[in-house]
Amino acid sequence: MTDFAATKAMFDLPKDVIYLDGNSLGPLPHAASGRVSDMMTREWGQMLITGWNKAGWMAMPTKLGDRIGHLIGAEPGSVVTGDTLSIKVYQAVASALELRPDRKVVLSDSGNFPTDLYMVEGLLRSLGPEYELRVVAPDEVPGSITEDVAVLMLTEVDYRSGRLHDMKALTELAHANGTITVWDLAHSAGAIPVDLSGCSADFAVGCTYKYLNGGPGAPAFVYVAPRLAERVRPALSGWLGHEAPFAFDLDYRPGDGIERMRVGTPPVIQMTALSAAMDVWDMADIQDVRAKSIELTELFIERVEAACPGLELASPRDPEQRGSQVSFRFADGYAAMQALIAHGVIGDFRAPDIMRFGFTPLYIDAQDVEHAVSILADIMTNRLWDTPEFKVRQRVT
Ligand SMILES: Cc1ncc(COP(=O)(O)O)c(C=O)c1O
Repeated sequence: MTDFAATKAMFDLPKDVIYLDGNSLGPLPHAASGRVSDMMTREWGQMLITGWNKAGWMAMPTKLGDRIGHLIGAEPGSVVTGDTLSIKVYQAVASALELRPDRKVVLSDSGNFPTDLYMVEGLLRSLGPEYELRVVAPDEVPGSITEDVAVLMLTEVDYRSGRLHDMKALTELAHANGTITVWDLAHSAGAIPVDLSGCSADFAVGCTYKYLNGGPGAPAFVYVAPRLAERVRPALSGWLGHEAPFAFDLDYRPGDGIERMRVGTPPVIQMTALSAAMDVWDMADIQDVRAKSIELTELFIERVEAACPGLELASPRDPEQRGSQVSFRFADGYAAMQALIAHGVIGDFRAPDIMRFGFTPLYIDAQDVEHAVSILADIMTNRLWDTPEFKVRQRVT
């Protein structure tokens, strides 16, 4: 059984703050600053360029990939870290399309995060006018996997509502139709158990700055099923994905398996912070995390509905149908969230009217939830949000 008091003690959380936004940016793992400082002074400072070999910097992308892979049911050697999630989406969809050259449609849903849709729009524009991005409502996805669909690209947990797609069923449906799947696990990795191998998923991508707590700008990851890895031709064919980067050949030859999904120089400082964050995950069982997360989200919904009648639940009521976040709709949600933050409870806001709260058992417990709801209730009952200062929109909401 995971000791959640012990995992909570591994984070530097500010006093008097209840942090319900770890679904957007995880907090600082206590060990990360020391680890990064050591990497900078002892490795970068003293080893200089020899750190690539001596300190193992060059192997970090796949080492970290395996540690993340453990949380998402990936086979060893099938995940690599690097770049940003937007880049990894592009890479995965481009490779998936090349595996189905006879079809020209990428199917996605309107609950997907915009960058996924934007990246595919840009990719398809460069491939030619015969390519199409088809976007349907989330519940229309199963009926829309038609014979012309080359790639089904979905985010498993909807970033706004927390609604969960059935990865196994949709992957099966896609495969029965000869469609290749790309799953975005941004709101899944570290939030819910994922079984990429058991689902026979083809490609998956995700970020490490949310539930994995790798820090702002932490690298993304990409998964390619081992049965496909040697057939995949990377569209972003950077030198570090080459079979022999230090041969400096003029022609590109893809590296072994997942190594070919590397692009350029890895962000070693960020990866060092991520490795400290992954140490916390070594102490946790994702099944325990899921069970606790359901307890916390159920408690939150029950208490908010009792105390704040003006808020309307925007997440599925059935915990099996949602990820590790809960959203409520409120017309003045932006101002209400600003007021809440000013009172020490941090969540976030997604236009047009969604107040979003993430539940992360590694460092949030039932007492935090009760306390957060009492502050929210005070703000709603006494309209503490209804002041000009809370209505000024900031750049990041
Ligand atoms: C589902 C999903 N995909 C992609 C992104 C963003 O990608 P990037 O890390 O490139 O900013 C997010 C950011 O929250 C997301 O929620």
